[in-house]
Amino acid sequence: MASNRTLTILKPDCVLKGKEGEVIAQIQKAGFKIIAMKMVRLTPATAGGFYEVHKERPFYGELCEFMSSGPCVPIILEKENAVADFRKLIGATDPAEAEEGTIRKLYADSKAENIVHGSDSDENAQIESAYFFAKSEEVANLG
Ligand code: RTP
Ligand code: MG
Repeated sequence: MASNRTLTILKPDCVLKGKEGEVIAQIQKAGFKIIAMKMVRLTPATAGGFYEVHKERPFYGELCEFMSSGPCVPIILEKENAVADFRKLIGATDPAEAEEGTIRKLYADSKAENIVHGSDSDENAQIESAYFFAKSEEVANLG
């Protein structure tokens, strides 16, 4: 059964452009509820840990540098079918290939600097949420 949570990051290019508010508004308009959110500055090492699955890929060094180049905003989101629906909302990794109206198509400049992250499976949504947030930081747990 599909989980109802996913983890996104408004990447440093999103924050640098001052588009956090617009992107969050689009995410909310699409029916996602914010469960936890913070602004953080990753180091190359913490960015590398997050994207460890890509460590053998040629773009890994560039990705770690980009993700630690400025503040970013990790957010836990909730919605039925969250992982798949969020990937659809953000569009393809490369904005040139993303569908019209998707967040990456609207705001991203390149495949490397593509505005937002979205978990690719329920299992990774869980692992990635725990990378940034303690259980006590999830509003749903505050009663
Ligand atoms: P994300 O994990 O950030 O949601 O992106 P994704 O699933 O759409 O794409 P993925 O293959 O997981 O790649 C992770 C991030 O690495 C950067 N990238 N650069 N220069 C390149 O060819 C290249 N390919 C990937 C992007 O920032 C991508 O989102
Ligand atoms: Mg990915």
